[in-house]
Amino acid sequence: MTKRINVHFLASQTSPDVLAGKTVVVIDVLRATTTITYALASGAKAVIPCLTVEDARETARREKEPVLLGGERGGLPIDGFDLANSPSDYIPEKIKGQCIVFTTTNGTKAMMQCRLAERTLIGAFANLSALVAELAEAPVTELLCAGTRGEITREDVLLAGAIIERVAGHRAGNCLLNDQAAIAADAWIGLDLESSDSGILAAILRETRGGRRLVEIGLERDIEMAARIDQVTIVPELDPRTRRIRIGH
Ligand code: MLT
Repeated sequence: MTKRINVHFLASQTSPDVLAGKTVVVIDVLRATTTITYALASGAKAVIPCLTVEDARETARREKEPVLLGGERGGLPIDGFDLANSPSDYIPEKIKGQCIVFTTTNGTKAMMQCRLAERTLIGAFANLSALVAELAEAPVTELLCAGTRGEITREDVLLAGAIIERVAGHRAGNCLLNDQAAIAADAWIGLDLESSDSGILAAILRETRGGRRLVEIGLERDIEMAARIDQVTIVPELDPRTRRIRIGH
């Protein structure tokens, strides 16, 4: 059966009903889904995504076991939180075995759109190959780009394109694509990058709006980590019943 891949450039322009029963990949390269991927690869027990800072604080209070609070607003650390939204913060020494209650401006909002999805996977360049392997059996895949405050972000579109190239083959010919998926595939294939070209990818990400913002606030290292293709072999998955993201099956 021919596979179908749909891309949504903006999570805010789709709805839980559209994604119901589907396999969805949430993409927020700079930085929410990259950070979650590194966090779980570093041994975090689970990540609990929350829409607002207040919800995160309340969730942390209600949890039976002690948790860490992580996330950002405006790219910056949140007052009183233990961790920001830099992948390099989420090292085993700080987070191994811990549950992290996590809120970010756009990424966690995108995850909330997936409450009726059959599977919600977390995508990053850091886990690209593992993610693609996980999508092998899905007849329909929805790639949900978080965007930034209602604007499309190039880094998310490029990752969507990279996923399509790998799932559908170089000319993206083996899949049915919606128009946004075809645009994403063209954007990625047009770069003509090898999987070892993380340095070139980092240079491209640095020039995006989100990338420029990170450089401005001194977080250029986050861009380098976000651009490292296949650093880890895990795929985080959100269970909507428990609202926990863990390493998937
Ligand atoms: C987001 O969710 O929009 C990102 O986490 C923003 C950021 O990393 O600063």
